[in-house]
Amino acid sequence: MLIGGKNNIMKITKIRSREGWIMAEKVSIVTLQEMKANGEKITMLTAYDYPTALLVDRAGIDMILVGDSLGMTVLGLDSTVPVTMEDMLHHTKAVMRGVQRCFVVADMPFMSYNITREEAIRNAGRLVKEAGAHAVKLEGGTEIAPTVKAIVDAGIPVLGHLGLTPQTATKLGGYKVQGRTPEAAQKILEDARALQQAGVMGVVLECVPEALANEITGMLEVPTIGIGAGAGCDGQVLVFHDMLGLFDRFQPRFVKRYRNLAAEIVAALQEYKDEVRRGVFPAEEHTFR
Ligand code: KIV
Repeated sequence: MLIGGKNNIMKITKIRSREGWIMAEKVSIVTLQEMKANGEKITMLTAYDYPTALLVDRAGIDMILVGDSLGMTVLGLDSTVPVTMEDMLHHTKAVMRGVQRCFVVADMPFMSYNITREEAIRNAGRLVKEAGAHAVKLEGGTEIAPTVKAIVDAGIPVLGHLGLTPQTATKLGGYKVQGRTPEAAQKILEDARALQQAGVMGVVLECVPEALANEITGMLEVPTIGIGAGAGCDGQVLVFHDMLGLFDRFQPRFVKRYRNLAAEIVAALQEYKDEVRRGVFPAEEHTFR
C-alpha cells in the first residue's frame, strides 16, 4: 500500500506485533535518507536466517545486513573469504521470508564482483532477483567505483563499505583500525567521495577513527553506518551473534555485548539433559494417554 503526498510517499505494511496486527512504514532508501536529514539514528543488525530476521524485524530495527560474516558466525569458517554466492543466496532467501518492515542488504562475497563488471552485475542481480534482497554491499573504494556505478545503473541499490574491509584484511595487514595516518585518512575520504559519485545509497565505515568518520558523515549526502567508527555516524551496525554473546571465539573492542546468550543456552541444555536423565522430563503434561 502507498500513502502520502507527492513528496512523501510511504510504503505501508501490516505487521504482526505483540499487540496484534499494526500498520507500519516499510523502510526504504527514502526513509534512510530522511533519517539522515532529520538527525535520526539508523539501526542495522546482521541476520542470516528466518527466525533471526523475524526477531530483528519485530524489534523495529531499520536495516538487516545478510553479512558474509556468516562465514564465521554460522558456517564455522576462519574468515569471510571462502563464502560463496550460493551461501549468500541461501541465507538471504531465508532472511527475506522473515522480514516485513526492515530494509535488507545482502553482502556480495569475495570474488563475486572483482573479476568482470558483467559478472558483478549478474551476481548482484541474483541476490536481488532470486533471493529478494533490497540492495547489495561491496567492499572497497575508488578501485571498485566503476563496478558500483555499473550495478547501480542496472537498477540495483548498493551500500559501500570502507575502512577495515574484512575480505581484503590480509592486504591491510590484519584486522586493524584504518585511516590513522593523514595519507590513509585522505585515501578513505577520496574513496567515500568516489562511492557517492558512483551512486551508493550509503556507506558502512568499519574501524576508523571517530574524527575521520565524522568528517565523512558531514561530507556525504548519503548515510554512513558505523561499526567501530564512533557515535557520529548516521547509523550503527553490529553482528547479531557478537552483541548477544553467541559468538565468543574473539570479541572486537567495538562490540558491546548486550546479553550473554551462549551461557543461558548452555544452562538450558544442561537442565534438559539433567531432567531427561532423572526422568523428570517428559512430565504428565507432555504425555499422551
Ligand atoms: O559481514 C558483515 O557482518 C559486515 C559488517 C561487519 C558490517 O560486513
